Amino acid sequence: MTMEPHEYHEALAQLAWQVELGADEAIGVVAVDRYEEKTKPAVVAKTVEKQPDAVVETPPDPSGVTAELAAGCGDLEALRAALEGFDGCALKRGARNTVFSDGNPAARVMIIGEAPGRDEDIQGKPFIGRSGQLLDKMLAAIGLSRNAEAPEDAVYITNVLPWRPPQNRDPLDEEKAVMKPFLMRHIELVKPQVLLLVGNPSNQVLLETNQGVTRLRGQWREAAGIPALSIFHPAYLLRTPAKKREAWADLLMLKARLDEG
Ligand code: URA
Repeated sequence: MTMEPHEYHEALAQLAWQVELGADEAIGVVAVDRYEEKTKPAVVAKTVEKQPDAVVETPPDPSGVTAELAAGCGDLEALRAALEGFDGCALKRGARNTVFSDGNPAARVMIIGEAPGRDEDIQGKPFIGRSGQLLDKMLAAIGLSRNAEAPEDAVYITNVLPWRPPQNRDPLDEEKAVMKPFLMRHIELVKPQVLLLVGNPSNQVLLETNQGVTRLRGQWREAAGIPALSIFHPAYLLRTPAKKREAWADLLMLKARLDEG
C-alpha cells in the first residue's frame, strides 16, 4: 500500500497518540471498538468459534466442565495439553502463549503467581520479566532456584491464570473460578511440600478469602491441604521497596520450615 506523505504523517501522529494513551503493543490487525462491543450480548466462550479480535466474556463454570477436564489429566503433560486445548477462558484469545510452568516439578516448593505479563506471554514461561528477576533473587537469597536439579534446592512455578490479561489488568473473579480446577489439579500432580502464594490473586483463590497479602502474610496457613505461606508480589515490592523487609521475614519463615526437613 502506498501512502501520500500527509497520510503517513497522520498515521504516525495517531500512533504516537495511542502510545501516549498507554498502548504498548499491537494485538490484532483489526481495530476493536470497545464501546460498540459492550452493547453486544455476552458470548459463551466455550462454544464460540475462535475470533481473535472479538471481545468475549468468560462464563462461570456451573457445570463443572473444567473440573471434569482437569480431573482427567493423569500427569503434567496431560494437564498442559488440556490447557492448551481449552477454549473456555476468553483471555486465551488475546494471548500469544499458554504459560504453563517453569522450574523443577520434583521441587519441595511450588510457587503460585497471578498471571503472565508481557514478557511471559511472549516467551511462554512464568516470572521472567522484571518481577521474575526479583523473585529469582529473593529465592537465591534462601538458596532456592528454579534451575536447581536437587528437589531440596529447587522451586516449581506456575500462575493462577495461564494467559495474559489485557493491559495486565487484575484477573476477574470468573476467570479465576473457571481456571481454579486446573490449578488444583496442577498442585495435586506436583505434590509439593509447601506452597508459596505470591500476590493477592493466588491467595484469594487458594485460601478462599478476600483478604490481601498484608493481612495474610506472616503465618503458615493451609491451601489445597498443603502448608502455604503468603508473600508480597515482587511487582509490588518493586513499587514499594519499604515492604521488602516483610518479604524477607517471610522468606526466612519459608527457609526455617524447609530446614526442618
Ligand atoms: N507476575 C505473575 O504473577 N506471574 C508471572 O508469571 C509474571 C508476573
